[in-house]
This record gives sequence, C-alpha cells and structure tokens, in this order.
Amino acid sequence: VYIELNSNLHTMQNTIQVRLPLRQDRSYAITLAEGTLDSLPALCSSLGKHRAIFIITDSTVAPLYGRPLLRSLTEHGFHAVMLDFPAGEHSKNASIALALQSRLLELKVRRDSLVIALGGGVVGDVAGYVAATILRGIDFVQVPTTVLAQVDSSVGGKVGIDHPLGKNLIGAFHQPRAVIIDPFVLRTLSAAEYRNGLAEIVKIAAALDRNLFRALEQNADALRRRDLAALKRMIGASVSLKAAVVERDEREAGLRKALNLGHTIGHAVESAMQYRIRHGEAVAIGLAIEARIAQQMGLLPENECLRVKSLLKRLKLPTALPGKLSKHRFGSALAIDKKSDGVGPRFVLLGRIGTSVIGTPVPQSLIARLFA
Ligand SMILES: NC(=O)c1ccc[n+]([C@@H]2O[C@H](COP(=O)([O-])OP(=O)(O)OC[C@H]3O[C@@H](n4cnc5c(N)ncnc54)[C@H](O)[C@@H]3O)[C@@H](O)[C@H]2O)c1
Ligand SMILES: [Zn+2]
Repeated sequence: VYIELNSNLHTMQNTIQVRLPLRQDRSYAITLAEGTLDSLPALCSSLGKHRAIFIITDSTVAPLYGRPLLRSLTEHGFHAVMLDFPAGEHSKNASIALALQSRLLELKVRRDSLVIALGGGVVGDVAGYVAATILRGIDFVQVPTTVLAQVDSSVGGKVGIDHPLGKNLIGAFHQPRAVIIDPFVLRTLSAAEYRNGLAEIVKIAAALDRNLFRALEQNADALRRRDLAALKRMIGASVSLKAAVVERDEREAGLRKALNLGHTIGHAVESAMQYRIRHGEAVAIGLAIEARIAQQMGLLPENECLRVKSLLKRLKLPTALPGKLSKHRFGSALAIDKKSDGVGPRFVLLGRIGTSVIGTPVPQSLIARLFA
C-alpha cells in the first residue's frame, strides 16, 4: 500500500478537530496556542460535569506545572488532586499503573471523574492507560509538555505501558476528550529532550508529507535555535497530519501503520538498550537505518536516503546503532516486534520521501547486515 497525505502548512489555526466518523460522541478538539495552559479550568468546565479532577504527572513536571495547575483548578471551585510518579521511561510499567489505580480507588474515583495527563509521552501513555482501565474507562484530557508528546503521542488515543518482553505491549485505544498544547511549557525542556521530540516530526513528514519534510529542511536551523514561531508551525503541521491519519484509521488497520516508520528498528534499539536511550533518539536511528534498507531494496532513491540522514544530523539526532548495543538483545527484540508475523519483522519503508509502503517483509540477508 502506498500512502501520501498533505498537511496544510500555511493556514494554521489554533484549533484542530479530530472527527471520529464511527463515534461522533468521541470526537475532540486539539488547541494549540501559547499560554493555553491557563485556560484549562475553563476547558474542564466546558467538558461537562466532572465531580473530581485527578492530575496525573511525573516528578519533574509536578513542581513546574502541576502545582500551579492544581492551585488554579481549586480556585475555580474544582475538587482536584494531583498524583505523581518518578519521571522516566522505567516508570511506564504495570506496578506504577497499579499504584495509580489504587490511589484513585482510595480517593473514591467515580465514572464521572476526569483525569488530566500532564507531562511527556510517558505520562500521557500511563495516565491514559489508567484512565482507560479504571472503572472500565473514564474521561481524560491530554496536556503534553514535551515536544514529542505535543507533536505525536498526545493525539490518537494510543495509551499503554511497557512489558519486560517489549515496549507498549500492554494497552488500549482510549481517545482523550481534549488536547491542550501550550508551546510555552517547552521552555523548561532540556536540549536533549527538545531534540528528541524533533525525531517524531521528521518521522511523520518522511512517512506522509513531502512538503512538510522540505519545510523541516528549510527550518532546520531555526528549529535547532528553538525558534518558537518555527516550532509552533511544525507542531501544528504534525498534529494536523496525525489527526487526519487517526480520523481515517483510528485502530491502525492500515494507514496509521505508516506512523510506525523508523519504529521497527527504533523499538528494538530501545529494548536492547534497556531503555537507556530516549525514544526519539531510537526513532532517529530507526529512520536512518530503515531508509538505508529501503534504498538497498530499490524502493528509495539514494539521494532521498541521504536527505533523511542529513536532516537528522542537522537536528543533532543520532543516525547509527549505539556502540554499546547488545546485538543479541537487538536480534531478539526485532523478533518479538508486534508488527512481525513469523516471516520475520515487517517494516514500513519509504517509497520516496512523503510516501510509505506498509508491511514490507525485509530479506533476512539485509537484516543480517545490520549485525555485521
Ligand atoms: N501513544 C503514542 O501514540 C505515542 C507516540 C509516540 C511516543 N510515545 C511514547 O512516549 C514516550 C516518550 O515520551 P517523552 O519523550 O515525552 O518522554 P517523557 O515523558 O519521559 O519526558 C521526557 C523527560 O522530560 C521531562 N519533562 C516533561 N515535560 C517537561 C517540561 N515542560 N520541562 C522540563 N522537563 C519536562 C519529563 O519529566 C522526563 O524526564 C515513550 O514511552 C513512547 O513510547 C507514545
Ligand atoms: Zn514514537
């Protein structure tokens, strides 16, 4: 299947609607604006009657944005409580999820309670998973605070936790009631976390939108300088593409698989490094290596393969397997990948930049070369 979409880079609005054709009642708005975090209490009121609000966040975001949000919700008359867990991917597991579920039950969570997932992709995935499972599912709002979460993970309703056997193996589809993207909160992000999120923008552009990829090439220096206007345009473009994909294929039956570009290798790298590498960095490595595989299979022209690698390098992202990678672990992780089916791992590969070919088996000989 060949796939190509186009984001509209020029008519960026502050609100993007995600329309789910089969479940109109679950459609929701994404708001992208500087300072929009301050409007969260008003948004909560507009979502209808929620008896209690539970902010779920991590230990880094709690003091930065959690406490002020808690205060402001309380001032607006909400019964609000904040729960936090230690920051980092190693918290994305069943015992943290169970601890949060236990706290919610002790605090008398009800079907009409609301969860606010305030943080990066880890918080969004864990808090979303908790919201999806507690009492068979309650409402939640995504308030992403990393570049990665703002451009990718907060939209689309995939929530979940990692299992010792692999990443994101336990989870659900649970759409948020709203997504609030405030680029101001990115100011406190470390340089490494900032760069990390850019990898998912490169992914979505490479997979689906040639014009966005060109815009990234043109804006690479501005993005590296953390120019807020350029960044906001790129966030807007990525999010509207992601929304368009989710509208067409909420459950990842086809089109949405294109967003796994770079992730077959990327997840195996993360798992083999036992998560001591950032998700976006692993995805950047995956994008570069999978582009090379596509080129070797005669799908992707050589010059386009080089464009992928050079854009990643300009954004200061890694493009080669880490020296410390255990090849044995990497091999087993590739074998257990969710997208594999006995024949060997299946990949999303680039036909050209902006066009993905989904479900491509890769000859074992090419995989073996990765270990050479
Ligand atoms: N559900 C999806 O569709 C989807 C898509 C892509 C990625 N993901 C998942 O997202 C996760 C990665 O997300 P991430 O990169 O955001 O990681 P993260 O949530 O661990 O955040 C990275 C670090 O930045 C800190 N942080 C967050 N916001 C901050 C801020 N504004 N200022 C300062 N520090 C801040 C966090 O505390 C953490 O230490 C992975 O687990 C990945 O699997 C999910
Ligand atoms: Zn990802």
